[in-house]
Amino acid sequence: MENPGFNTKIHTIIIPLSCMEQVRGTREVFSAHETIEGAGVRLHRAFGYGQVPLFDPFLMLDDFRAGNDPAAYLPGFPWHPHRGIETVTYMLDGKVEHGDSMGNSGVIGAGDIQWMTAGSGIIHQEMPKPVNGLMGGFQLWVNLPKSHKMMRPRYQEIKAGKVPTTAPAPGVSVRVISGEFGGVRGPVEDIITAPSYADVSMEEGAEIAIPVARGDMAAAYVIGGTGTLGSLSGSPVENRDVLLFGDGDVVNAASLHGTFRFLLITGRPIGEPVAWGGPIVMNTQDELRQAIFEYRTGTFIKEKQAIRPEGG
Ligand code: CO
Repeated sequence: MENPGFNTKIHTIIIPLSCMEQVRGTREVFSAHETIEGAGVRLHRAFGYGQVPLFDPFLMLDDFRAGNDPAAYLPGFPWHPHRGIETVTYMLDGKVEHGDSMGNSGVIGAGDIQWMTAGSGIIHQEMPKPVNGLMGGFQLWVNLPKSHKMMRPRYQEIKAGKVPTTAPAPGVSVRVISGEFGGVRGPVEDIITAPSYADVSMEEGAEIAIPVARGDMAAAYVIGGTGTLGSLSGSPVENRDVLLFGDGDVVNAASLHGTFRFLLITGRPIGEPVAWGGPIVMNTQDELRQAIFEYRTGTFIKEKQAIRPEGG
């Protein structure tokens, strides 16, 4: 989604300290907050600008589940640029019609994934449309390292039927979007930082210990039910709670009430400076100024055509 208002603060990345424990404790719990984006669309931001660099290599997670008022999303996210990031849009309900500066256009529907590498620059629009009164999904921003910020843009759509589901424990069902879970690989394969992204559903009473590589950032965003994550003795978490885990080898999860459902994202921190100006995320203020100058003078787009990898 758009992130208007170019802000030129520079953040310094701090790599999280590793610790000796095997089970990952809960380092911080946040709640998603309401924010207004695009042409006046109200959405929930699980994390974003204010949390850099806590979620490195991830920058932002937006939740556009509409609740009772899906029509509120109709103004959408009209034409805006991106540079220096990759975005992964995961739809639950409704659809998003999109088009971009490379001539791609299409519709992503329930269960589908759109993955876009903005790289050197893309200008696109994203217009949500409710289906049967329902609208909802998530957009994750994944940072690109300095070595890849100006790479050629890429774009891929993955239909719901190509997203595998696995059942790694009794009462647990996982949609694997990216990375590996219980020996099953997700279809989004080529994100530069190779993160993992899974949608985990747990029946009431179910428990699981989820392996996560030591040193990787791990976070969860709860999207339904009540349960515990990380320190199982900790307070129950529920819809729109965000948990950041400390280092270790496994994340524990237990469902206490209803179907406990959460998005789990993990990835190796990039550990580089972040200069974030709205929809453009670079390493330095000079690179941000250059991007803004190019956008204003019509030289922002470097590649007229995206790479469209096979598959999806
Ligand atoms: Co966008």
